[in-house]
Parts: sequence; C-alpha cells; structure tokens
Amino acid sequence: MSADPSFESIINQIKVDVVSPTHDLENAKQLEAVSRCFASELISVFPTKEMYEYATKASVGDAVWHDSSTEALEAHIAQLTGKEAALLVASGTMSNQLAVRTHLHQPPFSVICDGRSHINKYEAGGAALHTGAHTVPLMPSNGHHHLTLKDIRPHVVLGEDIHSAPTRLICLENTLDGLIFPQSDIVDICKFAHENGILVHLDGARLWHVAATTYIPMSVLCAPLDSVSLCFSKGLGAPMGTCLAGSKAFIQKAKWFRKAWGGGMRQTGIIAAAIAYALTYNFSQLPRVHALAKRLEQGLRDLGVRILSPAETCMLYYDPSPIGIGYQEIQDRAAALPQPIIAMGSRLVVHIQTTTEAIDDLLAVLRTLKENKLKDGFTPSPDLPVGPSGTDAERGYPTA
Ligand SMILES: Cc1ncc(COP(=O)(O)O)c(C=O)c1O
Repeated sequence: MSADPSFESIINQIKVDVVSPTHDLENAKQLEAVSRCFASELISVFPTKEMYEYATKASVGDAVWHDSSTEALEAHIAQLTGKEAALLVASGTMSNQLAVRTHLHQPPFSVICDGRSHINKYEAGGAALHTGAHTVPLMPSNGHHHLTLKDIRPHVVLGEDIHSAPTRLICLENTLDGLIFPQSDIVDICKFAHENGILVHLDGARLWHVAATTYIPMSVLCAPLDSVSLCFSKGLGAPMGTCLAGSKAFIQKAKWFRKAWGGGMRQTGIIAAAIAYALTYNFSQLPRVHALAKRLEQGLRDLGVRILSPAETCMLYYDPSPIGIGYQEIQDRAAALPQPIIAMGSRLVVHIQTTTEAIDDLLAVLRTLKENKLKDGFTPSPDLPVGPSGTDAERGYPTA
C-alpha cells in the first residue's frame, strides 16, 4: 500500500542506511590497525562475529524494568564478587561516580584516593560535580606503586573539627597503571577504614588482570571492599558496559541515581550477552596478553631502555632517553612503517588483539633508531632502576 505522497516524502527524509557494503573491509582494516596499536586496550575491536552471533540470542526485555539476560549477568557478577547485588551501567566512569554518590549521604565529606587514579584525574571532576565531595588525592610513598595504610592514615579526617571535611570514603584502583595492588595492603586499608566508619570502593576496571596473574579468586579480591566496579570493555573486549557490585541496599540506591542521570537503558540483553561471551572466552586469554607485555619489556631492557613502570599485567611505562631516542622519533618512525604501528608517549599497552609481530616490529623500530644514534656518535647511559621518584610529568605519564 503506497503512503500519501506528502507522508512518503517525510518517510524518505527520515530513512537512513548506516550499514555500508565497505564495512566488512573497514572492520578488517581496523582489526589490523588495532593489532599494532599500543595506545590503549580500549581500542580493541569487538564484537567479533562469534560474540555477535551469541548476543543475537539474548532476551529483549526492557532492562529498566526487567530483562532476563541483563539480570542473569548481574546475578553472575554479584556471585563472582561475593556481593549481594550488581548493576549493569554504561561505563566505568558512570559506575565509579554512582558508587561515590551512593555511598555518601550528607555533606561535608571527603574522599581519599590515589592522585593518579581515574576517579581523581579522568572523570571530569565528577565527585565534586555529582556528589559535592572534596577529593584528597595522595601519592604512594613506595616508588609510585600503590597506596598503603601508612600513606592514607595521616590524611584521614575523623572527629568533630568543623574546619575539615570528614573522610567518609576511600577509593582504591586495582590495577593502576597496570600495577597490581597487593591484597594484604587492601585488607589493611579496609580494616582501618571500617574500624573508623569509612567505606571503601574499588575501581576494579582491570581487576580481571589481577585474578589472571595472582590466581586469587575474584570473590577474595573483592571481599574486604564495600563496592567494586568491574569494566568489561577494557582488556576483556566487550563492546561496552561496567558492573557495579555491592550490598542490596547500595545497588537499589545506585539504580535510583542511574535513572536520575539518564542511565536507565532498555534492551541491554544484547550487551549483557556480549559481556558474557567476553567473560567466557576472552578472560582466559589474559595470561597470553601479559606474556606479550613482558616480552616487550624484556626487549626494551635488552636495548638499554629505562623501564619506568614494569609490565606486571598488560602495560608498561618506559623512557628511551638512555639510548638517545625521544618519544616523538619513535612515534614518527613507527607510524611510517609499511604496516604502521601506533606508539605514543611513555605508556605501551598490550591487549587481546595485539600480535607478536607488532611487539617485535616496535622493538625493531627502537633498535634501528638506536643503531643510527650510535653511528652518529651517541654514547648510551646505563639503564636506570625501575620506579624512579619524581612527578608524573617527569616520568612522562600520559594524560589519559
Ligand atoms: C581505571 C579506570 N577506571 C575507569 C575508567 C572509565 O571507564 P569508561 O571509559 O568506561 O568510562 C577507565 C577508563 O579508561 C579506567 O582506566
């Protein structure tokens, strides 16, 4: 049946085709590019055909009310983390900010966190914006590895002094810069916090890497914490999504704020299924990813490059200046290869789709640059120990 001509013209204005016949080729090219990109693991290209095929079998309920696949994922994450409940949200930032907002009730209050943490640096000042919380960023005293109770205790505000904002929450991050937070330190911090009426949230965007390295079960890693945020799109390769886990009452309240912030989503079954696929098939690949990161670290060490932060999991920080090379030279030469490599600044990240060839090709770039410097008369300085002191800027940390 043909529509009224004036309606027909509106139909034609509204119609759109976003699937181009070139997309298969584009996607293949993107996978090739991503396999040689050391910028971040967020760039991995999923869903794969298998992940997508599994996701098409998901339930199609409205998750604001009830969706079976979404709820099955949330129940699984609650059980995995040993918490009463979990909530699927759009992103790691939303999950962390929901945690801060839900834990804190009545200002004035303050949040202690690592100065380098995502919550402090990369969430657009969210703790102040959404919760009105004062953030107290601390730097670890153990060579920039992780915060300890010794670092935290002097900055905790207890008591009735009306000049200060009482500490109500401590936010930890594991891994941070790819470094594993020793569980014994997390236990010590949580014990002290709970004895003093302070809650502890963990940004566990990359906690998967800790379980894959230490073989400590997720429930044990999460046990001392009041809430945990777990990302599925970093390292595991789901297209999106983060789960926030905690007590039933906490998650019920967080659901309220998620809705208020416009984060109530509808047919999320397809996302939950893609995440389930990533948990089932991609998590087990992390040891291979870590081995590749270590291969890269060893290759850099062999060349005389200074390692600023070692590859405990999937990333490392390095400084090529001891062999006379700068980051920009590396970036330019790697980008000019017939099969280009993306390597920017001091951070190198390896992910599930990184290839061994990409690692070896990046090392070859540094080797060639070093040989050219030696030919030009450069004398390399001896390698320096890991974990130098100094500011983030001095260490060349990137800003994202
Ligand atoms: C440790 C950590 N937490 C939280 C986030 C935020 O995640 P999203 O980008 O999904 O908001 C990131 C993002 O890279 C992160 O690295």
